[in-house]
Amino acid sequence: MKKRVLSIIAMLAMTVSMAACSSPSAPTPEDGEGDDTNVSSEAGDLITVGYAQVGAESDWRTANTESFKSTFTEENGYKLIFDDAQQKQENQIKAIRSFIQQDVDYIVVAPVVETGWETVLEEAKEAGIPVILSDRMMQVSDDELYVAWVGGNFVKEGETCGEWLAKYLEENGRGSEEINMVTIQGTIGASAQVGRTEGFNNILTQHDNWKMLDMQSGEFTQAKGQEVMESFLKSYDDIDVVICENDNEAFGAIDAIKAAGKTCGPDGDIIVVGFDSVKAAFESMIAGDLNATFECNPLHGPRVAEIIQKLEAGESVDKIQYVDESYFDTSMDLETILPERAY
Ligand code: AHR
Repeated sequence: MKKRVLSIIAMLAMTVSMAACSSPSAPTPEDGEGDDTNVSSEAGDLITVGYAQVGAESDWRTANTESFKSTFTEENGYKLIFDDAQQKQENQIKAIRSFIQQDVDYIVVAPVVETGWETVLEEAKEAGIPVILSDRMMQVSDDELYVAWVGGNFVKEGETCGEWLAKYLEENGRGSEEINMVTIQGTIGASAQVGRTEGFNNILTQHDNWKMLDMQSGEFTQAKGQEVMESFLKSYDDIDVVICENDNEAFGAIDAIKAAGKTCGPDGDIIVVGFDSVKAAFESMIAGDLNATFECNPLHGPRVAEIIQKLEAGESVDKIQYVDESYFDTSMDLETILPERAY
């Protein structure tokens, strides 16, 4: 808060001096890709928030972006500077440096991967700008480099998926059968990938009859999910289950399975599961293609705003804030649940 008051005073002083002499070196965002706006004197007493977003790789990500854009509005007292890093860490680092240069009040990051952030977070700390992590985690030696994190429990999501599969196989009389599996992983090194892989593996190791044939990254996209599944189907002719580390990869996998002349879903050859629980996953389950989806809630805009409001009021915030999540499968009344889904 104090920093913002000082910056308003500095801005007023700058306006006076600029009247006498126009500066050729006003700060501009670096490599503007995806930058919506710059901080200007129009920001007034708005709270400026720079959001370093991962990209636009999935339905989940689109809902997450929308959540931030509809929360951090001028009507709500914010100036949002949004940057889409196109799934590249170097772009996110550039965006964070640009936010520091623009002297924003808060930096919010949904990190593409977990490691490699120390230097740029030190720079934010030196500039006195609080950093809030949202969605994915960072591994840093000093957790004072960020104020708080809010997101899903990815390990738990993976474990819930494994537990669901064990129950499903048991209920279908396949509890003791040898089950061949493949995994289409998310972006390697992203905490959503690391956690879901680890969580599912915690359950896999409890079942001697489960065999993981292969694991490859589908980068959390439908196109790559399809490509990876096509290659799995060429390499293995007896796949019973495909674990897709997000719903969009599952949609791609389903297309690949059908193109190969096989079937999937509750009545098909291959069990397909995804993560996120986006609306399209409900449609896919209703169509009989997808078996289950494990929820990951993307609506972090209001959660981050609450953290910022508490900090503005001088209150303390919980460092780690997990969001409650559920799962959905074809045994549920999906037609009734779908219209109630917010994303
Ligand atoms: O970090 C959350 C994951 O990122 C979501 O599962 C996925 O859809 C997104 O790309």
